[in-house]
Amino acid sequence: MTCFLCSPGGLLSGSIRVPGDKSISHRSIILSSIADGVSHISGFLEGEDSLNTLKAFQSMGVVINRNAGQIVVHGVGLKGLKAPTRKMDMGNSGTAMRLLLGLLAGQDFDSQLIGDESLSTRPMNRVIKPLESMGAKIGSQDGGTAPLSIKGDSHLKAIDYDLPMASAQVKSCILLAGLYAEGETVVREPAPTRDHSERMLRGFGCDVISNGNEIRMAGLQSLKATDIDVPADISSAAFFMVAASIAPNSEIKLEHVGVNPTRTGVINILRLMGADISLDNQKNVGGEPVVDITVRSARLKGIVIPKELVPLAIDEFPVLFVAAACADGETLLTGAEELRVKESDRIQAMADGLNILGIDARPTVDGIRIQGGILNGGEVESHGDHRIAMAFSVASLRAKFEIKINNCANVNTSFPGFVELASNAGLRIVSHD
Ligand code: S3P
Repeated sequence: MTCFLCSPGGLLSGSIRVPGDKSISHRSIILSSIADGVSHISGFLEGEDSLNTLKAFQSMGVVINRNAGQIVVHGVGLKGLKAPTRKMDMGNSGTAMRLLLGLLAGQDFDSQLIGDESLSTRPMNRVIKPLESMGAKIGSQDGGTAPLSIKGDSHLKAIDYDLPMASAQVKSCILLAGLYAEGETVVREPAPTRDHSERMLRGFGCDVISNGNEIRMAGLQSLKATDIDVPADISSAAFFMVAASIAPNSEIKLEHVGVNPTRTGVINILRLMGADISLDNQKNVGGEPVVDITVRSARLKGIVIPKELVPLAIDEFPVLFVAAACADGETLLTGAEELRVKESDRIQAMADGLNILGIDARPTVDGIRIQGGILNGGEVESHGDHRIAMAFSVASLRAKFEIKINNCANVNTSFPGFVELASNAGLRIVSHD
């Protein structure tokens, strides 16, 4: 079992580029595989999650060449995928499983999706139900979990669907199925969620109309190959934003970070807490805004996190809870019940670990109440959740004693090279197998 030993203290300095955006990397493989022509992808995240998506498309007959972060995808067209010879293993990735399920529901061949222990407990009915109402035939385990089996040749019909929860995975799953459906698919979201699918579909020449909370897209549109530059992942950059904020005398520059407005909740929440964050050098890269982010140490204060920011920072809460633990006063999060069905129950996992470190953190049904205080040291569990492991590594910057974090191998799902990059930036982490 890989564990991280984090020595207390340290300060952040220098300029780093964190790996490519996970959400955009998954989508870049999916859409370029079903496009007509050859697409080149640079900045691709070579983490386990997005590589599982890549392997799935290779197993469906797509020729994909990889060379040091440069990916060349020989698209087979909307109807060109072939039946995979084996079950497709999505590992730890909810995004891969839910997005592929939508796409596979529209194929003329049968397929099966499996995942690791964590993924096999995550709720899939949120995608199975709308897909079934489009005509898909999907088999799942009791309670709607993976392994999933998908029947081919289902002749999907477009759907008009109000999403019951703010989920970009569910939205994207339905849009991908909608590509294979007769008629116009309409999805309405209860709150804005990341819109990488819509932006990238447009980049591949699809007509996708977003109007307020509604997205409309006609089925059976063909995609034209295009080149994609994947920005650095704001969700990975977030660990360093909090790190530089809480560690005294720190200043770090994070290069080429994607700041799609549906992902910038972490910046807004940290600024409300008093963080010193500046954005420079704004560019538009393939329909996605990108900036360099500079973060300096600041005295943080506890806040009531505005509910509307929750879906826009959904993956950043583990490390935001560490910021809250280092802030003056109390931080209150509500409306975040989705955190309980991520790679782990992130509310419970963080509360348990923060309590072990000496912080008063009290979970609620849909959030948490954290009283800023002194972080001691101790042994915490990541529950195999990459973001919990990295969040507690950041906590060591303000801890009095060593923090040992168990079960950290899954950091490779989203952030290969985390220990090296974080060590170069100033954290004191050693990884042990
Ligand atoms: C993702 C959407 C989010 C997020 C996940 C990636 C995506 O999940 O937590 O890490 O790429 O669409 P939900 O849409 O289920 O909230």
